[in-house]
Amino acid sequence: MTDRVIVVGAINTDLVISTPHLPTPGETVVGAGLRTFGGGKGANAAVAAARVGANVALIGAVGKDDSGKRALAELTNDNVDTSRVALLDDEPTGAALIVVDANGENQIALGPGANSSVSVEHVRSELSTLLPTADVVLVSTEIPVTAVRTAIEMTMNAAVRCVLNPAPVLPGVVDLLSLNPIVTPNEIELGDLARGVATKGSTADEDQLLDQLQKIGERTKGVAIVTLGGDGCAVRLTDGQVHQIPARSTEDVVDTTGAGDTFNGVLAARLAAGDAIITAVRTAVTAASLSVSAVGARPGMPSYNKITSVSPQ
Ligand code: RIB
Repeated sequence: MTDRVIVVGAINTDLVISTPHLPTPGETVVGAGLRTFGGGKGANAAVAAARVGANVALIGAVGKDDSGKRALAELTNDNVDTSRVALLDDEPTGAALIVVDANGENQIALGPGANSSVSVEHVRSELSTLLPTADVVLVSTEIPVTAVRTAIEMTMNAAVRCVLNPAPVLPGVVDLLSLNPIVTPNEIELGDLARGVATKGSTADEDQLLDQLQKIGERTKGVAIVTLGGDGCAVRLTDGQVHQIPARSTEDVVDTTGAGDTFNGVLAARLAAGDAIITAVRTAVTAASLSVSAVGARPGMPSYNKITSVSPQ
């Protein structure tokens, strides 16, 4: 089997309400009815990778509840192998409460549930079976940092490419940079990481985005990518060169939820398919631009044919 991607990360149920604007503290905003979607940064990225043709296995956890059953059924329907997902008796499936405004911006409150019980032992056991045939491992940080660390260490030791989406930058995530994964923060996460590696005598210049990106790339000794929403992304290569990749212009931004997950999933899939890093990033940026055209993290995620039809590779 080729183009094998392993995703290690969270699986959620997303409860989404669209409102004219995002509520401020204490404010009640009345919106359109409640909609339910599959979510979680790990599960979303797994779907994005599968939609562009990768063979994807997901390592994570759900509760033995209706939400968990539905989450697994949806993932299977999207050709994601869920046989490595733990079914936990005593934890509910993770849930996210999401408000989306008229510009497609969102607010998310997360109840991790079973995601917070993804164990080092589970990750170790599943990865030891899967790594020998893996091309790329993608890890995100809505699960315990100990499990994330194990995934990155095992992947790097097996000389398999590892992508870390540091979303969110929880305590301990900065320390993972020295394990040398490819990192893909958004602008806010990049700032959080850069503050975490700041040394005495840092200058005001180092607050600038590209300086922060260089600093993170120097720490990982490799590729560092900052995703910039409608502005595409900037890629710092191993030799320190930085390339700016513009986004495809999108007239119809309905919901930006999951755009970062789409980017990461497609990046992992295209690296697994053998694309060079800049080519893979271009495809991932186009996929993320397309993904924002529908409500919910996954409904707008494109197929590879759709991506190449709007942006020939
Ligand atoms: O990145 C978007 C995801 O973040 C949502 O699907 C939600 O579940 C949260 O994990």
